[in-house]
Amino acid sequence: MKVTIAEVKDYVGKEVTIGVWLTNKRASGKIAFLQLRDGSGFMQAVVTKSDVDESVFQQAKSLSQETAFYATGIIQEDARSPFGYEMLLTNLQVIKEAVDFPITPKQHGTEFLMDHRHLWLRSRKQHAVMKIRNEIIRATYEFFNENGFVKIDPPILTSSAPEGTTELFHTKYFDEHAYLSQSGQLYLEAAAMAFGKVFSFGPTFRAEKSKTRRHLIEFWMIEPEMAFYEFEDSLVVQEQYVAHIVQSVVKNCRLELDRLGRDVAKLEKITAPFPRITYDEAIEFLHEKGFDDIQWGDDFGAPHETAIAENNEKPIFITHYPTAIKPFYMQTAKDRPEVALCADLIAPEGYGEIIGGSERIHDYKLMKQRMEEHNLPLEAYQWYLDLSKYGSVPHSGFGLGLERTVAWISGVEHVRETIPFPRLLNRLYP
Ligand code: 4AD
Ligand code: MG
Repeated sequence: MKVTIAEVKDYVGKEVTIGVWLTNKRASGKIAFLQLRDGSGFMQAVVTKSDVDESVFQQAKSLSQETAFYATGIIQEDARSPFGYEMLLTNLQVIKEAVDFPITPKQHGTEFLMDHRHLWLRSRKQHAVMKIRNEIIRATYEFFNENGFVKIDPPILTSSAPEGTTELFHTKYFDEHAYLSQSGQLYLEAAAMAFGKVFSFGPTFRAEKSKTRRHLIEFWMIEPEMAFYEFEDSLVVQEQYVAHIVQSVVKNCRLELDRLGRDVAKLEKITAPFPRITYDEAIEFLHEKGFDDIQWGDDFGAPHETAIAENNEKPIFITHYPTAIKPFYMQTAKDRPEVALCADLIAPEGYGEIIGGSERIHDYKLMKQRMEEHNLPLEAYQWYLDLSKYGSVPHSGFGLGLERTVAWISGVEHVRETIPFPRLLNRLYP
């Protein structure tokens, strides 16, 4: 019977065959321990000289790292391993030998590992991070489907720039100019007026010259947009959504979190509601903490965000930023046009901003005025202006950066390990 490692719990006491790769081995004169992986998981096989043919024992002892083979044996429970099962190997059949696999169980430098990303993905740590990423994606679809959202796929090739024009990837679209999408938001606003509550999940491109542990050139964003939702209504959706994905990972990725050494108790505390602080309060707090470099009107840098989030176990919303440092489409506060009805959600433990969101302007005149102030080419945005012309309503939305969220929940230091093939300032390979 051919099974996967993920399925062996159903085959205790039975003989099965699993297609595997060898990750490591330890052998003495009488016994060999083979560390196996098959993509679905990792487990150990034990080969005892006295129990198998001499040729099988010799072959097991000589297997090289990453050799692919069919392992046949009896599954038994193994209380000592976190996985809980092991195989007593009875036979093996080599499919393809691997010679001199470059990534050995010893330590390698980051650049070496990044150059071998296509092979590094096979390692236990990377496997755990990608499984957590997959669970967050699964839980995202679950949350929005259960809450009446329709998934809408905005275009990747666009003629407009929601988040400002400095970080755009330019390309030719036959005889026209085009940009790779830096956010699907404007298209999602159109969709929200057609479907009420919508969300997207797709690749996002930012030609940002930032080389930090939080920045990718290509990342994936989840962008919900909701008609008839005012600013505060959107914050409630955000905290419920983030709590849902964290608790889904806690429930369904125990092995992976343990393998990464993640403190699960910290994640268990991530439940709605989340604390909120206004930009004004945050500035005051930073001054009390001795950050003299920052003035009202400045944007926060990573050290500021970390300081603000420090005393909280949960993510914290910073609300009502100065209008001047935010994009053109944000609704401003009622008797205070100098601040926007917006919030950034800052993750705990120094992981920084994971969500940016706001209520959107729905008044035609104000929208047109703001676009002119931002020097946007009105022809390219005519369709977007139409939205505030025909039956426009208050609406709000937000964007969650998947990789920063994976980094925080997994507890990995750098976003480059949270996406299969990271695009970084100096890296397009592999
Ligand atoms: O704050 P941002 O730029 O917001 C928007 O694009 C809005 N249009 C979203 C919306 O309201 N629909 O980006 C949203 C999130 C950030 O909070 C961050 O998590 C992530 O996207 N992000 C990045 N992640 C990795 N690398 C980068 N260079 C990122 N830039 C933004
Ligand atoms: Mg932002």
